Amino acid sequence: MIELSSIPELRRWVRAARAGGRRIALVPTMGYLHEGHLRLVDEARRRAETVVMSVFVNPLQFGPGEDLASYPRDLARDRVLAEARGVEALFTPGEAVMYPPGSEIRVIPGPTADRWEGAARPGHFAGVLTVVAKLFHLVEPDLATFGRKDIQQAVLVRQMVRDLDWPLEIVVVPTVREADGLALSSRNTYLDADQRRQALALSGALRAAHEAFVAGERRASALAAAMRRRLDLEPAVTVEYLAIAEPRGLAPVETVEADSVVALAGRVGRTRLIDNIILGEGLG
Ligand SMILES: Nc1ncnc2c1ncn2[C@@H]1O[C@H](COP(=O)(O)OP(=O)(O)OP(=O)(O)O)[C@@H](O)[C@H]1O
Ligand SMILES: [Mg+2]
Repeated sequence: MIELSSIPELRRWVRAARAGGRRIALVPTMGYLHEGHLRLVDEARRRAETVVMSVFVNPLQFGPGEDLASYPRDLARDRVLAEARGVEALFTPGEAVMYPPGSEIRVIPGPTADRWEGAARPGHFAGVLTVVAKLFHLVEPDLATFGRKDIQQAVLVRQMVRDLDWPLEIVVVPTVREADGLALSSRNTYLDADQRRQALALSGALRAAHEAFVAGERRASALAAAMRRRLDLEPAVTVEYLAIAEPRGLAPVETVEADSVVALAGRVGRTRLIDNIILGEGLG
């Protein structure tokens, strides 16, 4: 595995890799890798000969008062994990490489960014789409993999690719979970043992929605009520939003189908966690 931290180095390397006719897959991350990220690599490798992973804690997607300064980082460990999983090139730019002084242009999403994460984190998706757009330009991948845990992000990246006529495929990979249901997230490292247990209310609520659906319930309001009952058992979790939506633009639905998305965000102490399922699939 080669590590590249400047744009000219990255472009040179990508040009040489492509000269061999190889397909290139990009896996964008903020590092502190876990099995969820590595599953994105597995999927990328299935579909392309060459996998480029970026590790960049993107300041643009953090709001004021969010956890940019304390975000977990361990590049030495990330290198080992990425290489072992078959990443060929690791792009690790510094902030001044991605946003040199004078940088000011941003990618502004449409209304799909106004709900859920976008409502809770103003400017978040402009930050995400701006960095993803830069990475797409730098690597010009044939495909890029994103995790379903961040489903609104995946929907918006797809929308950007469509609206800006980008010739690449966006592959969305199912959420990787701990055995007890907790969705893997770099931010799980913030949780102490009590909070780790309390956080199970999120996946527990999703499981309750799935079970109600399997039992024949089709009213979104009834599924939401089943989720609230599970969440009420855990007062340490503050729910920020709980939504049931169609999968393409994430607009709310009253009557659910197997492909409906059930998503929620909550706080456990100072840690903000998100999770979602495709209703017919459950926790997987
Ligand atoms: N549990 C998971 N399963 C599958 N993909 C995941 C999972 N967690 C994150 N990803 C994906 O990994 C990519 C990089 O995400 P990122 O580096 O922000 O990790 P993260 O675990 O979401 O961290 P954090 O929750 O702190 O934001 C995104 O496409 C994200 O959806
Ligand atoms: Mg994330």
